[in-house]
Parts: sequence; structure tokens; C-alpha cells
Amino acid sequence: MSLRFDLLPPAIAEAHQHFEAWVRAAKDLNDLNRLKGIFTGRKASHLTTLTELLKQTPKESKADLGALINHLKTMWETSLTQRLEEFSSTMASPATTMDLTLTPPEIPQGAVHPIQRLEAQIVSVFRGLGYHVEEGPEVETEEHNFDGLNIAPTHPARRSSDTFYLQAHPHLLLRTHTSPVQVRVLKRLSQKNSQGITLLESLGGVRFLSPGRVYRKDEIDPTHSPMFHQVEGMLIGKNIGLHHLKGTLSYAMRALLGEETDVRFRPGYFPFVEPGCEVDVKCPLCKGQGCRVCKSSGWIEILGAGLVHPQVLRHAGHDPAVWSGFAFGMGIERIAMIISECPDLRLFFENDIRFLQSMREVT
Ligand code: DAH
Repeated sequence: MSLRFDLLPPAIAEAHQHFEAWVRAAKDLNDLNRLKGIFTGRKASHLTTLTELLKQTPKESKADLGALINHLKTMWETSLTQRLEEFSSTMASPATTMDLTLTPPEIPQGAVHPIQRLEAQIVSVFRGLGYHVEEGPEVETEEHNFDGLNIAPTHPARRSSDTFYLQAHPHLLLRTHTSPVQVRVLKRLSQKNSQGITLLESLGGVRFLSPGRVYRKDEIDPTHSPMFHQVEGMLIGKNIGLHHLKGTLSYAMRALLGEETDVRFRPGYFPFVEPGCEVDVKCPLCKGQGCRVCKSSGWIEILGAGLVHPQVLRHAGHDPAVWSGFAFGMGIERIAMIISECPDLRLFFENDIRFLQSMREVT
């Protein structure tokens, strides 16, 4: 059955001819609403006119006109809706499309990275003991990184398979630990005033902490990364002995890991201390019962430390007969992994927001 367009009043027939072009030409919602009013509005629109007309139409053409009206209604409404959708996808008009009842999107809150936060906690414990913070460069000289620390010229750590040397400056390297800051500070404090008194003498001693990044040629795996963080500590004074070292580190580990933390000192070797020791804490997770993190031993090695080697003092221009002290160094990621029971170091560097958020709850 073909549609009887001849039944349309001429004005509406004429308007319908232009309808598609007008819809295309509508440039905003106002234009579109105006067209909608004219064609399909509830009052005085072409559609209402046609519905009125239908009532007065003689029986024999009623069905034809009815079919035509249905056809036009569907066509007009479809076109108008389509155009409306185009508008809302391309140029959403805020005045009419903003939904004030929607829940606003969550605005992510920035936070300090867990490694930086732990570093700040360690620094704060030692600040309470009168330590200040010293910084050293990440590009170091062999002298500061090795020689000044009594590390032998043949020591394996010096090999280019272990240490990043700068190609253009073979005596410069990426520091392999934070211990070179010891050499820098001690050398600075050996400067003498006009009366020949060293800065160290006029200060009566020194105690400082030095956190920072260190680099080693390690393959990346769950417990190794070519870059990680350490905190170095040093105290120089007169008649400093192992008891000072033990007291200080026991206190600091308890402040950091909990009052009930047991600390134990084992002999250990580092070229820049004598005697040297390795410091373990009772596993804070299983409380010494033995678990995966402490490899069933109940203890976790957390620090290297010792009494400053006379050669280190001498190299920096201080008399080891007058001055003595202790030094210690610890890996920040290692402590973070223990506290958070995180078995994979790489998570700290990948910056997956879900991991970082979970760390907020534990550290
Ligand atoms: N520098 C050592 C390392 O990288 C850690 C260390 C051990 C630092 C003993 C010290 C120390 O100051 O006395 O493994």
C-alpha cells in the first residue's frame, strides 16, 4: 500500500518537504526544540492539525490518512531524536544536560611514596637523638666511594661488573652506598681555623644521618634492583665505644619497629669499620617464631655497623688517637619489605596506585 501524500494539507506537505533539511540545519537545542514544537508538539503542531483532520475525514479515506499520519509521526520523531543525540555527544549544552544529582567523581589524593615516608620516619627517630641530615651526590669519586673507606684497590665491589662507572669520566661512578657521605663530612670537618683547630674539634664531635639513592649493577629480581635507597649514620666523638653503638641502634630499632623489638649484634666485616657487626632484629612479623619473611630463623638482618676504622679517620685528616666513633648503614626498601610483608621489591618502583594505596595502611 502506497502512502497517500495527496491527502496532506498543502502547508504541511510543503513543510514536510523541508523537514529533513531544517533538522540538519538546527545548530543547537533551541533550534531543535522549535522544530519539535512545530512538527510534533502537543499544541498547534502539524501533528495535532493532522489528528484533528483525521476526525473530520470521511470514512473511506480515514485508513489512508491514519497510515500517513503514523508514518510522518515516526519519521519526524526519529529524526529529531537522532539529531538530539548528535548534539549531546558532540556539544553537550551544560544548561540542559548537566545532572546535578550525579555523585561527583572521586578526586585522587596524592600521598608521600612509602619509601620516602619510611625514610622520613627513620630521620625523625635520629633527629630526636640530635642527628642532622647530610646529603651527598649520587655521582661520586672513587676516592669517596672506595679509597676513603679503606676499601682495597682489588676489592671486588670496584669491578665494572658491579659498579656503574661514567664512560666519559672513568674515575666517577654512581655511588654504590651512602657511606661516601662519611668521607665528605669528615674531610669538611678537618678544615682548620686560623688557630689550627679543626672544625670537628670546635664542634666537639658530629652526628649525622644521610639518606639517599644508591646504584649497583644488579639484575632486577624480587630482592634486587640497580637503584635502591639507604640511610647512613655516623657519630664521631671522644671515647666512643661499641656500647654507644649498641645503645643507639637498639633504641632506634625499637622506636621504628615497636617497643618490644629485640635487637642482636653479630660480628661482621666491612672495610671501613673495626670491629664491624651485623645487626638483626627479632622478626617483627612472627615475633621470633619463624616465618617466611625471616626464613624460619626468627631474626632479620637489618643493618651493617661498626666502630669507625682508624684509616677512615686518618684519610679524612683526623687523629684516630683522639677521635673515635661509630657508623651504620641500612637499606630502606629492605625495612619497608619487612614491615609491609611485601615479598617483591619491584612493587616499590612500579608505582601501581593499588599497591601504593595498600601501603598507606601498613606503613
Ligand atoms: N655501606 C654498607 C653497604 O652498603 C653498609 C654499612 C655497613 C654502612 C657498615 C656502614 C657500616 O656505615 O658501618 O652494605
